[in-house]
Amino acid sequence: MASVPSLAASVNQRVADALSAALPEAGAVDPLLRRSDRADFQANGMLALAKKLKGNPRELAAQVVAALPAGESGAVIKEIEVSGPGFLNITVADEAIIKTLAGRAADDRLGVPYAEDAGTTVIDYAQPNVAKEMHVGHLRSAVIGDAMVQILEFVGEKVIRRHHIGDWGTQFGMLIQYLIEHPHELDHKGGEVSGEEAMSNLNRLYKASRAVFDSDPEFKERARDRVVALQAGEQETLALWQRFVDESKIYFYSVFDKLDMEIRDPDVVGESGYNAMLEETCRLLEESGVAVRSEGALCVFFDDVKGPDGKPVPLIVKKSNGGYGYAATDLSAIRDRVQTLGANTLLYVVDARQSLHFKMVFETARRAGWLNEKTHAVQLAFGTVLGKDGKPFKTREGETVRLVDLLDEAVERATGVVREKAGKVGLTEQEIVENGAHVGIGAVKYADLSTSAARDYKFDLDQMVSLNGDTSVYLQYAYARIQSILRKAGDARPLAHPELELAPAERALGLHLDQFGEVVSEVAATYEPHKLAAYLYQLASYLTTFYDQCQVVSADNPPELVENRLFLVSLTARTLHQGMALLGIRTPERL
Ligand code: ARG
Repeated sequence: MASVPSLAASVNQRVADALSAALPEAGAVDPLLRRSDRADFQANGMLALAKKLKGNPRELAAQVVAALPAGESGAVIKEIEVSGPGFLNITVADEAIIKTLAGRAADDRLGVPYAEDAGTTVIDYAQPNVAKEMHVGHLRSAVIGDAMVQILEFVGEKVIRRHHIGDWGTQFGMLIQYLIEHPHELDHKGGEVSGEEAMSNLNRLYKASRAVFDSDPEFKERARDRVVALQAGEQETLALWQRFVDESKIYFYSVFDKLDMEIRDPDVVGESGYNAMLEETCRLLEESGVAVRSEGALCVFFDDVKGPDGKPVPLIVKKSNGGYGYAATDLSAIRDRVQTLGANTLLYVVDARQSLHFKMVFETARRAGWLNEKTHAVQLAFGTVLGKDGKPFKTREGETVRLVDLLDEAVERATGVVREKAGKVGLTEQEIVENGAHVGIGAVKYADLSTSAARDYKFDLDQMVSLNGDTSVYLQYAYARIQSILRKAGDARPLAHPELELAPAERALGLHLDQFGEVVSEVAATYEPHKLAAYLYQLASYLTTFYDQCQVVSADNPPELVENRLFLVSLTARTLHQGMALLGIRTPERL
């Protein structure tokens, strides 16, 4: 399990060494190597350096070239030349490409390095609300969060998952009181209920209790008293509250299951889980002077947070009626995650519309000393899901779209796409159904993950399941096609032959394969899964060009050429498979 340095890293190192050999007075300089269309790589660090040393960049670049042995047998760099105002254009040896890739292929992690500074990340994601329907916003948090969990764990981070579900608040007074007065409303007569049934039970109860709450002032009064009983931890009230949570979990788990996502029960620590800490959190904030009393409420103020009237808008940790809100819970959760769970990083995958809340919560925690240089908090904020019309996603009736309906439709469409091609591949009905689910759910996840999280995106099923373009189906077909080639290759096995000269499409594919480790490391460090999606799409595109220009299995090809090409496509398949798995997307073997 050795991490394999990329060719870019090796070349960069060599150029940096040549630079310091040629110009010892310059100190350590980054040659700023990039992939390039002109050659394999271009280094333009000489421009800034020349400026600094008041020298001529082209002359400087020529000195570096002179200090670099190139073209010798076994050398990584085959050609290096000065171009333009003082760039270095660098071509690597074919042999070096295949040797590096063979190193990646020999490692079951494909040579991806572990993060040097791995620590503990507590990630807050997939946090729906009890007794409420899940919508597309919850989809984004779950999909992006799950991808980040996979990616961080892959680079060696210890990841603790927290599903901060909305399971506490005044609305439970109304629900519980209604259930007390209509005791059999949540009974499961015929044994187990499905997720759909659970949600429809909850919906029914919610609507019915809301109606009484709004029309009957005495019921309203009893519901208010019930909130007090709940907060006081009164046994019977708590037991009824638990029934709502359990019913909701049946529904949540059915949706996560549909999403092909593992959510573990011990990781579901909702708002109620921090109830016992709220009072102390407020006391600590008040004693340290971080929070102050203002109009009866306990508040934290910020110089740069003001309302439209210019007056400061505080973070309210305790309301004037003594109730605790969302902020007190989040501040308590920070204490728990830092002090008990030992987090170095707190990552929140939450809608961008909550950014001000998190900004204030994080700043408060910093002032209180709960966050510091050793532990920092980040919101991985995501944008809104829009309909085809570019407006926030709603049904024709103007209601929020139910997540399950969307997922079912995606799977249905995808199954149609799979079925159309199934005859050629000889898929059984069961395989069609299984693949349909993997393609449909993959399409939804990929569409979400392939644009930068911060941006809004349009939910367009037609585009998502299209076979052409930047879609998961395109990547899944690329993978399945390679598997089919490998199956048909007969006795020929993938084997690296560094002695062979490479065709341009082979070099392009090979150099891109070599970047996988760097991309994964970057994505893990910057929380930008869309860069992994872009990398995989590029990889599939290079593969398509390669197929156009190079025959893999052909009677005209000498055996070592067949083996080397099989080696290239099989490493491509493994990279696609691994990369898609990190995004939470399956790659069926036959499609
Ligand atoms: N349940 C919230 C919602 O549906 C999201 C919770 C986000 N996490 C947090 N720690 N506040 O909007």
